[in-house]
Amino acid sequence: MMMQPEVSVTHNDTQATLDNMLHETRSFPPSPQFAAQANAQPELGESAATDRLAFWATQARTHLTWKTPFTQTLDWSQAPVARWFADGTLNAAYNAVDRHVLAGNGDRVALHFEGEPGDTATYTYNDLQRETSRTANALAALGVTSGDRVIIYMPLIPEAVIAMLACARLGAIHSVVFGGFSAEALRSRILDADAAIVITADGSYRRGSATALKPAVDEALNMDNCPVRHVLVVRRTGQDIAWTQHRDVWWHDALADADTFHEPAWVDAEHPLFILYTSGTTGKPKGILHTTGGYLTQAAFTHHHVFDLKADSDVYWCTADVGWVTGHSYVVYGPLINGATQVIYEGTPDTPHQGRWWEIIDKYNVTILYTAPTAIRTFMKWGEHIPQQYNLDSLRVLGSVGESINPEAWMWYRRVIGKDTAPIVDTWWQTETGAIMISPLPGITATKPGSAQTPLPGIVADVVTDFGEPVAPGGGGYLVLSEPWPSMLRGIWGDHQRFVDTYWSRFTGRYFAGDGAKRDDDGDIWLMGRVDDVMNISGHRLSTMEIESALVSHPKVAEAAVVGATDDTTGQAVVAFVILREEFAAAAANPETLDALHADLRGHVAHEIGPIAKPRDILVVPELPKTRSGKIMRRLLRDVAEHRIVGDATTLADTSVMDLITAKLSTPASR
Ligand code: PRX
Repeated sequence: MMMQPEVSVTHNDTQATLDNMLHETRSFPPSPQFAAQANAQPELGESAATDRLAFWATQARTHLTWKTPFTQTLDWSQAPVARWFADGTLNAAYNAVDRHVLAGNGDRVALHFEGEPGDTATYTYNDLQRETSRTANALAALGVTSGDRVIIYMPLIPEAVIAMLACARLGAIHSVVFGGFSAEALRSRILDADAAIVITADGSYRRGSATALKPAVDEALNMDNCPVRHVLVVRRTGQDIAWTQHRDVWWHDALADADTFHEPAWVDAEHPLFILYTSGTTGKPKGILHTTGGYLTQAAFTHHHVFDLKADSDVYWCTADVGWVTGHSYVVYGPLINGATQVIYEGTPDTPHQGRWWEIIDKYNVTILYTAPTAIRTFMKWGEHIPQQYNLDSLRVLGSVGESINPEAWMWYRRVIGKDTAPIVDTWWQTETGAIMISPLPGITATKPGSAQTPLPGIVADVVTDFGEPVAPGGGGYLVLSEPWPSMLRGIWGDHQRFVDTYWSRFTGRYFAGDGAKRDDDGDIWLMGRVDDVMNISGHRLSTMEIESALVSHPKVAEAAVVGATDDTTGQAVVAFVILREEFAAAAANPETLDALHADLRGHVAHEIGPIAKPRDILVVPELPKTRSGKIMRRLLRDVAEHRIVGDATTLADTSVMDLITAKLSTPASR
């Protein structure tokens, strides 16, 4: 069943702010110098408009090396499952690494690794070829073969990138689970993917100390009929860890005798490359499936044009972790396929001081920076005097991803970090789309603060009404993608029906992204946030139901409802409304026990999902607002969470519930 949006698409902003945004008059055309040297030239859009499929076939041939050239571009006969370049064969790791070595660029730096404690490592393309080959041989020796699922649960260290590429060399399907997710979250992904191997590390460095990772793997695997045969462990921190004989294998031991030559597995273009789990509208995360040829084509094409990458002179830094799709497409596959030199950083932006990122940019002369609005807002809060202590003159393109960037943050990013010259690309896309879909093109587009603006060449996107009609300029509706694109998801792992229901049922024949959007008078697209029960916390997706399930699994909680409330830094924050079981209800009356209860519930959510899911606020309430059919009216709770006057409550089964909640909340002990 498709979830019908219960909220207005504009819930995050007041109408006045929206109107201002849609009448944005600031416009920043590219400088003639930038335009003249840009990878993206106007002919790009023209050729895509003339023949979209021929355009994508050209991109696939330009950006990738094929073992067997393809002759078919798109097979849409099994819609909504697309087949792109289906009769071609290739290997992702060969494209990302080996071919650069063969082209004589083996000495070029692929990765500048910066560890949080200040340790560094440099990997050239030669190094990556040797290490991915050894790792592929080591994985093969542990029994991994083409099509097997391998879970990667690691900090952002070079071995995480190498592990992904080693899987790709073998034709094994990697599924990276963000290292901040809990043992519970890890276990459910291992089971859903039926994974044979987990690759992890003993721990990592975060906020100045070593934190453990391996214990979560041990906890996750503590179950009957565990499918995992081996755990491959990178020694990162050297901390003591528990060891399960025969199952656990040190990475350095497994690689010690591994051959440095590995022949990549040549796979069909539609061979699965990875599964990445993301939150949907139900409690169960969806395993988004991506395949090889189309995904790599669009990752490389977009990375080349949207970031204007010049492989022999740029130093590129995408701050995402490989646990998210941004890390897949814009740390691993896009940049490496394009032969880029990039920076990866293990730690947090404020360790050991709040200028760490700017220090890294100056140290490596980073030219292209790709990050998230939540980071930019955090830096704004810390004050511009911090970046001003650094040079930052090397920067020439700035990217943003994960949520809409508010015009104020956009202007700050441009002025303070980009010195009023570097173009900003606000890139809209999703785990499901695999690669950037809507974004300005530097050198072509006159940019506008706050808007992702236009679909890229070869992409057909629209904003439509409830009835699927395109909205008029100034109008709002739902974002849809009207034509298949190469890096589109090929399904949800093990659940074809959910794939059809979630994305393809709302508007027949078109992909429903789950985002609200508006078109301004120039035809530019403005993203307005999710229209379903998915929240966006610091650019990361979390489902309200996932957190509700976590809360009700706590012995003291009878019922829970979760909403995403606007937050100045994180975009949205989790606010939970809970009804306690009767025997614990007295705790809510006493401020001291209430504090302990809040800590307990927050800790429980962190244990069930991960620290990013911890509610910012927990409100103990006597009732929850429900419709006569029993559906929680989150719209009303969001009003409470955002301190607004509660909206129309007439469809509630019991209209006095909201009075009860607001009366209860005015007593200090309930919050
Ligand atoms: O709501 C949109 C928001 O993030 C969602 C996708 O989340 P995820 O799959 O985790 O991927 C995040 C990184 C690609 C979208 O449905 N989103 C992402 N980028 C933007 C955005 N919203 C507005 N503007 C963006 N640039």
